[in-house]
Amino acid sequence: MTDLEGRVALVTGGSRGVGRGIARRLADDGATVAVNYRRDAAAADEVVAAITASGGCAKAYQAAVDDTDAVAAMLSAIGDDLGTVDLLVSNAGTASRGTAIADTGPEEYLRLLRVHTLGPLELIRLLLPGMRTCERSDVVVISSSIVGETPPNGAAYTMAKAALEAAARTLAREERGHGVRVNIVAPGLVATDMGQRLAAAAAGRTIEELDPSYPFGRVARPDDVAGVVAFLASADADYLTGQRIQVDAGGPDSTLL
Ligand SMILES: NC(=O)c1ccc[n+]([C@@H]2O[C@H](COP(=O)([O-])OP(=O)(O)OC[C@H]3O[C@@H](n4cnc5c(N)ncnc54)[C@H](OP(=O)(O)O)[C@@H]3O)[C@@H](O)[C@H]2O)c1
Repeated sequence: MTDLEGRVALVTGGSRGVGRGIARRLADDGATVAVNYRRDAAAADEVVAAITASGGCAKAYQAAVDDTDAVAAMLSAIGDDLGTVDLLVSNAGTASRGTAIADTGPEEYLRLLRVHTLGPLELIRLLLPGMRTCERSDVVVISSSIVGETPPNGAAYTMAKAALEAAARTLAREERGHGVRVNIVAPGLVATDMGQRLAAAAAGRTIEELDPSYPFGRVARPDDVAGVVAFLASADADYLTGQRIQVDAGGPDSTLL
């Protein structure tokens, strides 16, 4: 697919892991990509360099998605540099501390909600006026298969992703009259820094050790998620909105997340 020519994408958390795979794939498909990161500027610069080396167009932008002022400043810079964003991939995220509800105070719930739900909603709110002026716009939110699994010790993360999904479904119905498609991609375990930490915490193993026991002989890679995001943003998915695609090889008899 190379039909994202002329589109301007913002990938939050595009500097590492799943977001890096998505940023590179959208650029390969022709989009100009704003690569957002929180603190690892070198990783974001590497993604931009890789995209540029393959003939694509990208620029890195620092902002923590849970910092409203930083997000507003970033969007203003992206607008000046690249034009109107018509494709947002809300991917930036962080794991919870993995404590039981009995041992979790309100600040941990709020921390996760700010990163996974409230920050993305503010980002969307600020982008919508521009998106509505475009012939077609897309919001793709990266959730997690965990929403349907509700494992112990994951309430803060699961709740934040579930809230994001509820908002995304609502947004899909509110914005379809303005040409904005809104879809959810929910991966199972993915081989990233976060995935390695989760595999170690939940199974005491590395992703590479888990690969043989997973469906199709491997844990998902960022490109597995990126391909689905690229499809959702493509002309082939023009009539899709409010959908949720779970990228977990049919889940969950051996999956962790
Ligand atoms: N890995 C999995 O197994 C898995 C499974 C299901 C869903 N997910 C979801 O997939 C998404 C990506 O996860 P990943 O595995 O790629 O994680 P990762 O390897 O830890 O990478 C996280 C990325 O998000 C950025 N980031 C973190 N907090 C941020 C914030 N507050 N503001 C802006 N950027 C921030 C990081 O930037 P810096 O490096 O600059 O901090 C980095 O680019 C997350 O939403 C995660 O919940 C992951």
